[in-house]
Amino acid sequence: MQEKKPSSIVPKPDMSVELCIPKNSAAGSSTDSCSTEKNALVDIFVQVSAEGSHIDIIDIREGQQSLDLAPAIRFSLQHCNMHGYWTLPSMLLWNEKGLRLFEEVTYTPEYYLTNTEISLLETHSGELARQIEPGTILLELGSGCLRKTGILLQAIEALGKEVDYYALDLDRNELLRTVGQLVDTSRFRHVRCHGLHGTYDDGRSWIARPENAGKPICVISLGSTVGSFAPAEVAVFLKTWAETVKTTSDGGGNPVAASFRILLGLDGCKDGGRVFEAYNDPRGVNKRFILNALDNANSYLRHEAFDARDWTVRGVWDAIAKRHVQYLVPLVDVDVTVLQDDKQQQQQQPETVTVRAGEKVQLVSSYKFDDEVKHRLWEESGLTVVNQCMNHDGSYGEFFMIFLLNY
Ligand SMILES: C[S@@+](CC[C@H](N)C(=O)[O-])C[C@H]1O[C@@H](n2cnc3c(N)ncnc32)[C@H](O)[C@@H]1O
Repeated sequence: MQEKKPSSIVPKPDMSVELCIPKNSAAGSSTDSCSTEKNALVDIFVQVSAEGSHIDIIDIREGQQSLDLAPAIRFSLQHCNMHGYWTLPSMLLWNEKGLRLFEEVTYTPEYYLTNTEISLLETHSGELARQIEPGTILLELGSGCLRKTGILLQAIEALGKEVDYYALDLDRNELLRTVGQLVDTSRFRHVRCHGLHGTYDDGRSWIARPENAGKPICVISLGSTVGSFAPAEVAVFLKTWAETVKTTSDGGGNPVAASFRILLGLDGCKDGGRVFEAYNDPRGVNKRFILNALDNANSYLRHEAFDARDWTVRGVWDAIAKRHVQYLVPLVDVDVTVLQDDKQQQQQQPETVTVRAGEKVQLVSSYKFDDEVKHRLWEESGLTVVNQCMNHDGSYGEFFMIFLLNY
């Protein structure tokens, strides 16, 4: 699942903000000074971390093609969604610079999700680690800056369980940096750490490889990352992963039943004001993160289709759908030129789309999971709760939750 379909619920803009800041500042970018060695047979880049540990980043991209969002960008600009909004693919957020900017967002005091999940993991990682079988493949979907996973891995290490941890994400330089830091700071003896460079879909094909058959699998998704999908899509997403693992066959084509679990962090905050603040910090850190999607779109389109200085970001808490939506909004009328492949003439035809000042281009949603949504999620995905830890928030009840789920 790479692209999010428009939700069928119309956002109710009862809360919005505009923050105008200068053109986005450059986030630090990691340079890859170590020598890279590619083993053509197994597609493993072996890299040496700052402390001299070896880190393997496995290229699992199907056909070794880099992700190309250009057709999706063109399509989005040529077709408004059913609510009359333009959209852009949310995956534009996640290039190397976007990942660095998102890490900055996780340190803003308003972004409660990261600190709350860290405190949950600090309290409960021992009991979660006890539930992990030795020999497990721990596969984290969208590992990001890896500020949290080390807490769980240290608890597994303390129990002396031999496991393989795979951080899956979209940018190889960021995988090298974050997995390298994890290995350097933790000095594991029992936990082996690797990176998987690819999309969720690539990860699902990888887990279905015969060499992974029969091993216990625990898929990890933290930070309420699945909240960028609507709840019905999350159910399909989780079920598809579970069924992939359960139907994986060995080299001889025989199905091998493996145990399958999901460790899932979900945001259940019901306080619209608090959610809104988390995605609309007054220093504009989140805004820089969102605007970076336009520069990333230019890279995919291979020309300056967007000038980020002409755009702002608008966050909206949609109380009905229980989601926060982030829109890109032009400050002036902008003409966006896209080059369309003309197959007959075998050349690229420019086509210009005008987005008027104040019109919205929807980029990403963050759904929040209340009791009703959560129960529907378990029902539709076929998952059952083995263990749950929750943070409570006064009158608002469950705030952030981590579930260990069985299929
Ligand atoms: C909201 S961030 C969460 C990062 C981290 N799990 C956390 O809790 O801080 C979402 C992460 O998922 C990754 N991601 C988004 N879509 C993806 C896809 N289709 N395939 C692989 N990774 C994806 C992004 O690159 C990013 O690291």
